[in-house]
Amino acid sequence: MPGLKVPLCCTDGNYNYLSHCSIRNVDSLQLTNEEERVLKGEYGQGAQKAMELLVAIGEGFDAEKMIPVTRAHAACSGQEGDLYFVEILAKGGALCKIPTTTNPIADFEYFQQVLNIADEHNEASVAWKTKNYYKQIGAIMSQTCIPYLAENIPKYGEHVAFSESSATPYVNSVIGALTNRESIQTALAAGVIGETPEYGLHLKENRKGTVLVKVEADLRDGYAYSLLGQYIGKKVVSGIPVLVGIRKRPTIDQYINLCAMMNVTGAIPMFHIPGFTVEAKTEEESFAGNIPKDIITVTDDELRQTHEELQTATGAIDVVILGCPHYNLDQLAELTKLLRGKNIRRDASFWVNTSATTKRLAERAGYIELIEESGAHIVTDTCIDMFCWNNLREKTGMTDSPKCAYYRRFGPVRVGTLQECVAASVERGE
Ligand code: F3S
Repeated sequence: MPGLKVPLCCTDGNYNYLSHCSIRNVDSLQLTNEEERVLKGEYGQGAQKAMELLVAIGEGFDAEKMIPVTRAHAACSGQEGDLYFVEILAKGGALCKIPTTTNPIADFEYFQQVLNIADEHNEASVAWKTKNYYKQIGAIMSQTCIPYLAENIPKYGEHVAFSESSATPYVNSVIGALTNRESIQTALAAGVIGETPEYGLHLKENRKGTVLVKVEADLRDGYAYSLLGQYIGKKVVSGIPVLVGIRKRPTIDQYINLCAMMNVTGAIPMFHIPGFTVEAKTEEESFAGNIPKDIITVTDDELRQTHEELQTATGAIDVVILGCPHYNLDQLAELTKLLRGKNIRRDASFWVNTSATTKRLAERAGYIELIEESGAHIVTDTCIDMFCWNNLREKTGMTDSPKCAYYRRFGPVRVGTLQECVAASVERGE
């Protein structure tokens, strides 16, 4: 659209374009008359700001047009940058046009009752206000980082806008829907407008493999997949890895762990496991004519070394935190088996993060009762990166998640399998 003026702005989690953006002319992105009306503010300032952001991103990536998206997931954090943008949208009258789910912020009532943090985090707090603005603009308050399993499930071939580390690669690779590696704000803007600029992974030619990863390691459990993701993310940094050598189809939680870690230590929005992920049956199809830029081999040695690098504590632990990403029903079933008839040590605490939907299903299956009988707590709607855990800062922690160790709110940390977390936290001899 010749002559259109839009802000050139940053797209990271601390979106702050109104205060420091520059204005430039835009020529390549063609907008429809309707899109131009949104951009001029005819549908309110909130929608206008959302469109300004999407247009700026489109220009930055040389998109030629906007395309419809049918669902979005905003990896909201309840922190200042998050509040800044959602407040602008809400006060400008924006409303979500398509189903738009949200990441964990906090179950304030639970934390007030259980952790007694009412004074610090009341209605005036950033997190509280952020949550309310998301509600106001009509977001679905799923408050989970794995919405693609229950609350917001894209279909194969659907164009969507999903942020969150595990969500983007899971949606692209395991489901075969199409999303870019969105920020909180670009996903939210897409949720309000129902569109996104057509660039990146929305175009088939950009979904080909770029790096070959030969997996020779023994992937015996979910933790091994976390280590694999951690290692691949660090080595590949950015691109689309093709993983060969995996003989057995990964389970859902193994996929989730792989996705989360590749997209935390690296910026990996998509991968192929020929024969298992949906877009390519063979290595040849995965690369679709691309020559791999690099070839990486992962053996047990690399996983062992990755495991050792994660450890910042040894010996006794004070607290276990699981559920980063949120535990799914299968993982709660496994935990139930491991904790049945056991007691968490009196001098330790044990916390499991999950979604409200999963907790409800786990209640019906009888898992929650059995887990809580042991002294462990099941927490919904929040995540390890939230203020709720600040009171654990002086404690030595343990987790089965390298991502949790990375964002940890506790002190030194041990990282290991679920079985090892349970063994380290129950009464001796149990
Ligand atoms: Fe989920 Fe928070 Fe971990 S969003 S992946 S629980 S850091």
